[in-house]
Order: sequence, then C-alpha cells, then structure tokens
Amino acid sequence: MTARGAHDNASGPAQQRPARDQVGRHEYRVRMPPARPPPPACQADPMRKLYVIGIGAGDPDQVTMAAVKALREVDAFFVMGKGAEKQQLVDVRAAILDEHAAAPHRIVEIPDPPRDRTPADYNATVLDWHERRSLLLEEAFAGTEGVGGILVWGDPALYDSTLRMVERVLARGTLTFDYTVIPGVTSVHALAARHRIVLHRIGEPVHITTGRRLRDEGLGTGSTVVMLDADCAFTSVPGDTYIWWGAYLGMPDETLIHGRVGDIGAEIVRRRAELRAHKGWIMDIYLLRPAE
Ligand SMILES: C[S@@+](CC[C@H](N)C(=O)[O-])C[C@H]1O[C@@H](n2cnc3c(N)ncnc32)[C@H](O)[C@@H]1O
Repeated sequence: MTARGAHDNASGPAQQRPARDQVGRHEYRVRMPPARPPPPACQADPMRKLYVIGIGAGDPDQVTMAAVKALREVDAFFVMGKGAEKQQLVDVRAAILDEHAAAPHRIVEIPDPPRDRTPADYNATVLDWHERRSLLLEEAFAGTEGVGGILVWGDPALYDSTLRMVERVLARGTLTFDYTVIPGVTSVHALAARHRIVLHRIGEPVHITTGRRLRDEGLGTGSTVVMLDADCAFTSVPGDTYIWWGAYLGMPDETLIHGRVGDIGAEIVRRRAELRAHKGWIMDIYLLRPAE
C-alpha cells in the first residue's frame, strides 16, 4: 500500500545515503544514519492488491476455482462482523478459509458500524453507513501488508456494498491499490438450481427486487425474484401467483417450498417463523410468477 506523496526518494541528496568504509578489496562496511522509525508496512509496496471474492451463498462446494486461486494469494482477509446471531455465516467463511486459503494468513475482523434500520431518509442513512464502513476498511488495509482479500457472500454485484466501499477508499486518495473482483454463485442461482427451474418464461426478462419494494410497488407481469424480505411481502400478491421459496440455501437447514401463494403462502409464513425462532436468524429468497 502506498500512502500517496509518501514515497521514499531513492535518488535523494547524497548526505542522506549511508556512508561506506572500505574494509577490504571489495568489502564495505555500511555506516547507517541514526535509526529512524521504520515506515509503516503499508508503504513498502508501491501497488498493493486487493481481491473482492464472491464465495457463493452458503455451500462451500460452490466456491469457484477462480475464487480458490485468489484465496491462495491473500495474506490478510478483512471480515465485516455481522453480529453473533449469524455465527453460521461466519463459520461458513471460516470453513472456506480453512480449506482453501494459504497458510499463514491473517484474518482482520472489522466491526460493522451500527445504523438506523428504520430511517426517515433511507438513502442518506445507507450512504453514511457506507462511508463509515469504508473508513474502517481503509484503516484495516493500511494496517496490514501483502495482498488483501474480502470474502463476499454470494456475488459482490448483487445487494452487497463491498465494491462501493472499495471505490470510496480509492476516491479518498489516501491509499492506492489495484483490485480484482471474483464472481460468486448468487442466492438467486442457488434458488433456481435447488428448485430445478429456469427463472423466467421463454425469452422473458426477470426482475430482482426487495421485499420492501414488492410491497410498495406490487408485482409486475413477468417473473420476479425477491430478496431481503423480513416480513413475507409475498402475502400481498394475488393468490394464484406461483412461488418458489428457499431458506438457508446450501446449508444444513435448507428448506424449499413451492406452490400457489393462495395454497401454500400461510405454510411458508408459519415455517419461516418456526425456523427463525429455532435458529435466531433466517435468510430466504423466492421467485414469484403471475398466473398466465
Ligand atoms: C445482502 S443480500 C446478499 C446477496 C448476495 N450477495 C448474493 O449474491 O446472493 C442478502 C439476501 O440474499 C439472500 N440470500 C443470501 N444467501 C442466501 C441463502 N443461502 N439462502 C437464502 N437466501 C439467501 C436473502 O434474500 C438475503 O436476505
């Protein structure tokens, strides 16, 4: 990592170079100038590398070969804490690192800054949260050396703020580094595979949205994948809509239900509540398709 403007100048004034005493025909004893504090480790490498690695949505067997190759190059992994209730997600990451990361490596835990979950101004609150997260990432990256890595649940391009944080760190200009994104299997693809379905009818588009937007905007005409739904927004769609629902995909408690919302919607609500109460957290996703 290079702190901009802080490069040592190798061709600096002669009096700053170490003096040499000749002690033999070709041997010199180097007289070092008075000791200075060593530069921070992050200044040693002119262009550090950071990997943002999609690790799939829970099944360690869905980590790609490209991800494994990148994992093996990383010296320091930065892990954003998600709170104790999602320890299983932390455990999945740890299992992936145990199996694939090169030894030795460092794991640097970055506490997730708190944020208002029901803000008056949602966008402003999220932007402020991204800023605070990016400052923590910057501090952690500056405090380590070698190749950095961030493991991202599923794929970094889908409902994940890691790439925005990385862009913010670079935009501040305090650190310079190169970064590479490794795609991962998303929960959308895991859902489709486990239900053995195509996401859309022939030639149709597919819409991906959140539970909050489904409630606010209603269901469109084509196929819609819904993520980040804390309160069963599918109960607001017409009863003849078909739903393919999946919770804890790729994990030991994986649960799949499908059918018409009018027939099995209440069952999903009940099952979801039971699972959530039992484990203390839930991650679920579903595909909705209006009746033809
Ligand atoms: C913050 S988003 C992250 C999405 C992730 N980047 C991806 O590619 O799947 C979290 C949401 O993804 C979905 N999700 C992620 N992993 C899941 C899993 N294993 N089972 C069910 N849903 C999952 C849920 O809708 C959850 O609320």
